[in-house]
Amino acid sequence: MKALHRDFGVEIDGIDLRDAATHYARIREAFEEHSVLLFRNQRLDDEVHLALGRLFGVIEIRQKNPQEHEARMSMVSNRRNDGRVLSEQDSRLMHLKANQLWHTDSTFLPAPALANILAARKLPTSGGETEFVSTRAAWRDLPDVTRTRVRNVVLRHRYTHSRQAVSPVAAALDEVTMWPETTWRAVWPNPVNGMEALYIASHVCGVVGMGEREGRQLIDELVAFTTEPGRIYSHQWSSGDVIIWDERATMHRGRPWPYDQERTLASICITASEVDGLGAVRPVPAA
Ligand SMILES: [Fe+2]
Repeated sequence: MKALHRDFGVEIDGIDLRDAATHYARIREAFEEHSVLLFRNQRLDDEVHLALGRLFGVIEIRQKNPQEHEARMSMVSNRRNDGRVLSEQDSRLMHLKANQLWHTDSTFLPAPALANILAARKLPTSGGETEFVSTRAAWRDLPDVTRTRVRNVVLRHRYTHSRQAVSPVAAALDEVTMWPETTWRAVWPNPVNGMEALYIASHVCGVVGMGEREGRQLIDELVAFTTEPGRIYSHQWSSGDVIIWDERATMHRGRPWPYDQERTLASICITASEVDGLGAVRPVPAA
């Protein structure tokens, strides 16, 4: 294993992900410990990708009644159905651009994501990197006074909030407005090794029990600290790359690329469950 960053992330050699079930214990151990796993030269088709996801848990289905739908691959892509690319003005491109804000996935869903498995399909000639930070390392490094202040905080998450930051049109898409606000505690302890991580995202729109301005200041301060340049691992994609990351202990963002070129990454999220420590981030219900 080769470290990707001094604080987190490893490149793992010698595993063909088509045979991931055989190696799952080792993969999962590395996932809990290192938060971001890079595998190179892989050949994942949709079926292998979904099977890999199912080893981690239930594949996320972004529908109100997920039991009525079948899990399928989603493409993070600016490619249109007719094979051309989305124009710069297209609301779906704006929606993609919102992924360029630091976030962790699906915090606006009734159960957020445990992991994302992202695989390169079609890459532009430049740009389009995916960047990661460790919110576990950030939590460790925060001044004690801030840790004390944040430890019992509950954050409000809303999908429209992150989309609004990029474009009102993207914020008005049905797939965005359909999700009501959620609340999660700001610190997620890993149930396997006890390591705590800040749990924060671009979807955070406020702090429960705190005024709007004070809440915004705190959120901005935490995101700025967590995403200082020295904390970032920037991944330049190569064909065959697959990255699995722990949504409980990282934030990520996409980077811009020449939008007249196609960029397609195959993506699935796995939904967090009780064994992943989900109960620890549920806010205590009001008495
Ligand atoms: Fe994402």
